[in-house]
Amino acid sequence: MSKKELRFNSKTIHGGQSPDKAYGAVMPPIYQTSTFAQSTPGGHQGFEYSRSANPTRTALENSLASIENGNYGLAFGSGLAAMDAVIKLLDPGDEVISTNDLYGGSYRIFKKIFEKYGIVFHFVGMQDVGKIAAQINKNTKLIWVETPTNPMMNVIDIKAVSQLAKKHNILFAVDNTFATPYLQQPLDMGADIVMHSATKYLGGHSDVVLGALVVKDKELADRLYFIQNASGAVCGPMDSFLVLRGIKTLHVRMQRHCENGKAVAEFLAKHPKIEKVYWPGFTDHPNHLVAKDQMSDFGGMISFVPKGADYHTAIKIVERLQLFTLAESLGGVESLAGHPASMTHASIPKEEREKSGVVDALIRLSVGIEDVEDLIEDLRQAIEE
Ligand SMILES: Cc1ncc(COP(=O)(O)O)c(C=O)c1O
Repeated sequence: MSKKELRFNSKTIHGGQSPDKAYGAVMPPIYQTSTFAQSTPGGHQGFEYSRSANPTRTALENSLASIENGNYGLAFGSGLAAMDAVIKLLDPGDEVISTNDLYGGSYRIFKKIFEKYGIVFHFVGMQDVGKIAAQINKNTKLIWVETPTNPMMNVIDIKAVSQLAKKHNILFAVDNTFATPYLQQPLDMGADIVMHSATKYLGGHSDVVLGALVVKDKELADRLYFIQNASGAVCGPMDSFLVLRGIKTLHVRMQRHCENGKAVAEFLAKHPKIEKVYWPGFTDHPNHLVAKDQMSDFGGMISFVPKGADYHTAIKIVERLQLFTLAESLGGVESLAGHPASMTHASIPKEEREKSGVVDALIRLSVGIEDVEDLIEDLRQAIEE
């Protein structure tokens, strides 16, 4: 059976991989080298300088392309470096329409780095696709979607946005960090670019920072590859190896993240001291039907607000947690808790933040793959103490 025909769980392990040419190593060696010997100028074996390409990074890039059902993968030094490469496709005067509640660092690179180069960003609530349509003009060159959104867990209809983007000939990128290709495959739903903070679920063990892009189209891949090589924000061989190893267990980890996420979301929703729980698996979540249609399960990311929406109560809860670690990031095997207003989303001005629901009492959980009873006991003692 050719590797193209493999199902998802097999692709995470075998997709785009073959034993190493030198000694048949099953895992690609960590080619810790900056350069490669040439017999004559240009006489090399496919690799000449590790910014341009490195065999360990290539193995990862092939795996990324495979699991996202794309044709080309590109790996970068971080998720933000991957986003940086996408925005560099644009010219001064071009406009971007983006999700209004998105990762704070994504907002920051758009507003604080690229706006001064003349690129214009519009942030809209994309649950209503009509709001995107209303912002489109002749300068609109990119629609940037995060779904589910960080941290409000809004779900955006990828197929509907794709139709709109195609109609107006606009490039359409999806940040698939929260869902991962285990839950949704945006390229198959019409996106042109999938982006990942592979630091999160793809790496899966909170031990590496890395970013990724995957595309189907050769011309787009060539333009992105040119930027990757010319700007140079590549990841090193060791980090490539770690993410490649992480991807091999993505499917089993995600299955448990989803199971534990559901149990924790249901526990919180029933708890009298909790006011609101944001998780797309609830039938009363405003975008539940879209989530059900485009995702195969609902993931392990949950946000919630304690009763009274009081900032101090929220801070006490995150301080009392013992098994959940209070830390930036998400998607690792261990459960993490975060306070978006002061941590991941502090770079978004308070008025902007609060418009999309990121209030000072909001707590975000990345539910890990520990025994779920232990996680629930930890939350119970932190909420009830
Ligand atoms: C949804 C999302 N996109 C992008 C990023 C940025 O990725 P990185 O931290 O790997 O640069 C993050 C990081 O938290 C994220 O959560």
